[in-house]
Amino acid sequence: MRSKVTVVGAGNVGATTAQRVHEFGYADVVLVDVVEDLPQGKALDMLESGPVIGSDASIIGSNGYEASANSDVVVITAGIARRPGMSRDDLLLTNMKITTAVTQEVVKHSPSCIIIAVTNPLDAMVQNVYESSGFPRNRVFGMAGVLDTARFRTFIAQELDVSVEDVQAYVLGGHGDDMVPLVRYTTVGGIPISELLDEDQVQKLVIRARQGGGEIVALLKQGSAYYAPSASIVQMVEAVLLDKKRILPACAYLEGEYGINGLCVGVPVKLGANGVEKIIEIKLTADEQTALEGSAASVKELIDVMRKAKAEGA
Ligand code: NAI
Ligand code: 2OP
Repeated sequence: MRSKVTVVGAGNVGATTAQRVHEFGYADVVLVDVVEDLPQGKALDMLESGPVIGSDASIIGSNGYEASANSDVVVITAGIARRPGMSRDDLLLTNMKITTAVTQEVVKHSPSCIIIAVTNPLDAMVQNVYESSGFPRNRVFGMAGVLDTARFRTFIAQELDVSVEDVQAYVLGGHGDDMVPLVRYTTVGGIPISELLDEDQVQKLVIRARQGGGEIVALLKQGSAYYAPSASIVQMVEAVLLDKKRILPACAYLEGEYGINGLCVGVPVKLGANGVEKIIEIKLTADEQTALEGSAASVKELIDVMRKAKAEGA
């Protein structure tokens, strides 16, 4: 029997995620959205690509959650996306309400699933989904670091004219402009980046990676990135469904790791069939720790705004 993956939100990120999972063929897919007929239409269109791409997996669209029952993995992309001039944080309270409502349905219909939250502002939404779900922390995490790292790796590969496959990098912290690319752990074919590029060149690439989401928003003019985001989500889905034990950056709930308690922040984790099977703690320099704490403080500010809004009845 195939695994079951539900993707909530049939917009740009959700639909391309559903398409990629369906194309792999290892999971049946349910695509859920509030817009009448939209997920049904997109899912049917994808299903009809099956004979051409060689996928026998089923994919259906729905405006409710019955069809999603007992999913193994649920990806939450429902919410509004950035438009030019908006930061990820501008989405906070609208997306808080949407992700709370979605999580309640997901928990009701798939009580044993693993949830991958994607909606922005990412770290605050992961925290909201985690707290709303009542799930143990290994079963709720967020996708951002894989995307941020992919951007950093792309720019390094372009700069050095080498294969993207040979570039390894890590990005810690929140999915915001103060994310923390770990230059010390960035290698090309195992060679530290500092041996190949000078500090100024590396810093330019760090800044471009930090602003990578905004660069795409400015070009698209309406909406934000979705091809690289959906590829990044699917890498995490695959790590869980195939129990790959991948070491990837993920936004996870920390209980003292890296000196951070009670907050969802991006850190390296081991991802397998049980979701976040381990939080990998690496030794940071004083500067890196300060940058990570700064990034965590930005996440905390948003969480405080959400808590206040909830206390006031939002
Ligand atoms: P989009 O606007 O194309 O799609 C969002 C979809 O959510 C729409 O189809 C909408 O009808 C649906 N939706 C709204 N309320 C819903 C509800 N209560 N239940 C089910 N569906 C609902 O937006 P896009 O581009 O797909 O982005 C989705 C979210 O993902 C945004 O918040 C965006 O900022 C975020 N994002 C996060 C990334 C990350 O790295 N974590 C990367 C890219 C996007
Ligand atoms: C991105 O980084 C919008 O968070 C999204 O592209």
